Amino acid sequence: MTIALGIETSCDETSVAIVESSPNEERLRVHCNLIATQFDLHAKFGGVVPEIASRAHLQKLDLLVREALESTGIAPADLDVVTVTCMPGLIGTLLVGVTAARTLAWSWDKPLLGVNHIHAHATSAAIELDAPPWPAVALVVSGGHTSLYHVRDWDDISLLGATIDDAAGEAFDKVAAILELGYPGGPIVDRRAATGNPAAVAFPRSMLKGESLDFSFSGLKTAVLYEVHGRGNTSGGLVGITEERIADICASFSQAVVDVLVAKTRQAVRSTGARSVVVGGGVAANSVLRRDLTAACSADGIAVHLTPMRYCTDNAAMIASHGIRLFERGHRSDLALGASANVKD
Ligand code: KG4
Ligand code: ZN
Repeated sequence: MTIALGIETSCDETSVAIVESSPNEERLRVHCNLIATQFDLHAKFGGVVPEIASRAHLQKLDLLVREALESTGIAPADLDVVTVTCMPGLIGTLLVGVTAARTLAWSWDKPLLGVNHIHAHATSAAIELDAPPWPAVALVVSGGHTSLYHVRDWDDISLLGATIDDAAGEAFDKVAAILELGYPGGPIVDRRAATGNPAAVAFPRSMLKGESLDFSFSGLKTAVLYEVHGRGNTSGGLVGITEERIADICASFSQAVVDVLVAKTRQAVRSTGARSVVVGGGVAANSVLRRDLTAACSADGIAVHLTPMRYCTDNAAMIASHGIRLFERGHRSDLALGASANVKD
């Protein structure tokens, strides 16, 4: 039996989790997954303000660690490892989590393990599965990343392709801003799209030609801007645009993003020979993506594992889960663990 504490502070959610693995069971047990969102602090700025985010993590993190231990009845002595997101993300917010994890590991005399946030998103669909879905193609779609990975095991993950400009979630957030729908935009655009016509506007599906598994969403975002304001006029308000039209634009935009994500994921499955697809990251909560990817994989005879909704957006359960599997495979970090805003793979 292995018990891991997980800490996640890479962006605007402070999260602490305790996860347990047992030798006889593949399914991990998530004892708790506490998330303090900073939504209200950043909403008025229309995006995450790094300095405000770092301060909020500092205020919340030790309280969440205490609550996690008290609410589960697990003592520091019961823990086998302290896991923490060490990359990628906002450098200031990452350092808050990494510094806290280093301090806890040192004072409790426990091993420390830094976890790649994107790898944790890539494997989050496996947290509650009875058998590992590897080898799999993992689609990671979040506010900062849109990537395809070949996952052969929890610690054997290679990049197949990634966005060359905007991430899918970023595109959702920017389209919501263009349509003055609020922040974060993904869930709102998703809701508004439900009543719209996905064929109303023929938005571009970029980079579908050729073998590349890279993505590009900035052209699509610009196409939405032109559709809303007209070419050459990007400063006007939303005068004259009906609620129905907004729903149609949301539906057509969502369908354009999802068509590309599904096509590239299928292509990645063909090129790797993987037998399953796993999907994680905030945009994995998108209803059109969940529907279309499930249908496509079923048509291709490929198993698809969608990350449970509660583990799609940033959370420490995925960090502790990924960390526990790395720990079991012998991985450890030095107590001098640093943080990195970017990641190469
Ligand atoms: O994984 P995440 O919590 O943070 C990052 O690591 O980036 O992802 C947040 C992103 C935001 O861009 C948000 O708008 C998007 O996920 N998102 C969605 C939905 N729910 C969250 N995008 C589309 N549809 C959704 N239902
Ligand atoms: Zn994330």
